[in-house]
Amino acid sequence: MTRTRMDVWTRTRAEGDWPAVLKDYEVAVGRMRDLDTPGGKPGSPLGWRFQAAIHGLRSQFGGPDTSNEFWSNCQHGSWYFLPWHRMYLAAFELIVQDFLEDEDWSLPYWYSIDPDDVGKSSLPPAFLDMTLADNNLQTDERSEIARSGGPFYGSIDPDLLNSLLIEALNADTFSTPTGTATFGGGERSDLNFSGDEAGLLEDVPHGLVHSLVGNDYVGNVVVNPGWMGSFYTAGLDPIFWLHHANLDRLWQVWLTLDDSHTNPTGDSAFFDTEFTFPHPEQGTITWRIGDVLDPEFLGYEYESLAAPSVLAPEPQDRERSITTEGAMPRPEGSMPPRVLGAASDVSMGSAERVPVEMTPPSSPGSAPDDATGSRAYLRVEGITGTTAAPLYSVYINVPEGEDPAEHPELRAGSVSTFGLEESSRTDDAHDGGGLTATFDITALRDRLGATGRWDDGHMDISFSAHSPAPPAGAEERRERDLQADATDVRARRVAVLVE
Ligand code: C2O
Repeated sequence: MTRTRMDVWTRTRAEGDWPAVLKDYEVAVGRMRDLDTPGGKPGSPLGWRFQAAIHGLRSQFGGPDTSNEFWSNCQHGSWYFLPWHRMYLAAFELIVQDFLEDEDWSLPYWYSIDPDDVGKSSLPPAFLDMTLADNNLQTDERSEIARSGGPFYGSIDPDLLNSLLIEALNADTFSTPTGTATFGGGERSDLNFSGDEAGLLEDVPHGLVHSLVGNDYVGNVVVNPGWMGSFYTAGLDPIFWLHHANLDRLWQVWLTLDDSHTNPTGDSAFFDTEFTFPHPEQGTITWRIGDVLDPEFLGYEYESLAAPSVLAPEPQDRERSITTEGAMPRPEGSMPPRVLGAASDVSMGSAERVPVEMTPPSSPGSAPDDATGSRAYLRVEGITGTTAAPLYSVYINVPEGEDPAEHPELRAGSVSTFGLEESSRTDDAHDGGGLTATFDITALRDRLGATGRWDDGHMDISFSAHSPAPPAGAEERRERDLQADATDVRARRVAVLVE
């Protein structure tokens, strides 16, 4: 029998603040916490702290604690992101079922950026309820903005977040060897560029929701860091699991959205990779990625796989919509992307435009039809830093002296800084390479070209940071929390590529 993972907001609206599925969840979280050893390292594998440690646990040295084989195993910045988290959730769901002695209990999902229903962007009331004594779903380890019960993104423009979700769902491939502008992330076994690469979904909604549910910000400074804001603590927040159920669901939404959207089943480095998790009865369970690509294998389906309505129009509008930006087919068997130009060591917090000189694609030695048939990418590589806003957008050819944020039509893409600290550490599993994001700018280039604002030999890049307006009192905390050695967020290289 297939269970249904339900939309937590639909249940809340239908049943009131404490729908049955959350009442049960709250009880199970309490039982898992009862297994926790109070201090020191996590004890029982079925305990709450151990479960969170599977995702990440900070060692006394500041990096990931891997002294237990199950700890600090989370997969980010590659095509393993979605399947690893799918298994992590499925194993967790079995544990909750076991504590509840209810094989039908299923993790609900939190569709936090639903372009058709902004009301879902608030944490469901059960996660905020302070009237229930020791409510296991409530915690102060969240941003004040999230705890206020309003939209988790505060004053950030919801239209931007909706566009980012839609851009992710419009990505036409799950993965590529070169990691360019994919839904699911770069192939880890065949990296043509330094650094691992997140898929678009992993940036937004995934990373952004983490940062903003966890942390408050004053500009580019984190104040009041909370659980969801770091790999090492994210799993401690009960909302983590509902957030990831939604990402897992969006994977299925993406697959359903277009016949050309498929999983990279032909690649054994993906298909045959296995991960092992604690199991409530048999000790451990090992799954192979190839087996879990259909959620039914794990016993569940989702209440809804409806895509945002702008992506799922009435049939007569369909033709128009599938020719929107980003939907150009990727050339089969094409050459790896070629770098046309790049700028090094770029500050992403500066208002200065960054000039990039490019070798025009039609110059001697390159294919003559490059400029017309090619896809163009903007790659922001090796992003590191100790303090950053939750989200940065990159813009092309913003007129001198103008605010890029006033030019959404020139935005090439946006990157979340969730995991920045973890991936900036040189002694960490992520090797200090930082975060990398690549955006498909083919449509933007063609649009600029059509209005005479594209120059094959030169591009100006600008960045703009997106932080919500800080909660009251945060300005003072900023002074206290700001580390003396905090450095701005920088990209090792910003490159323009064509393929
Ligand atoms: Cu492994 Cu949402 O993080």
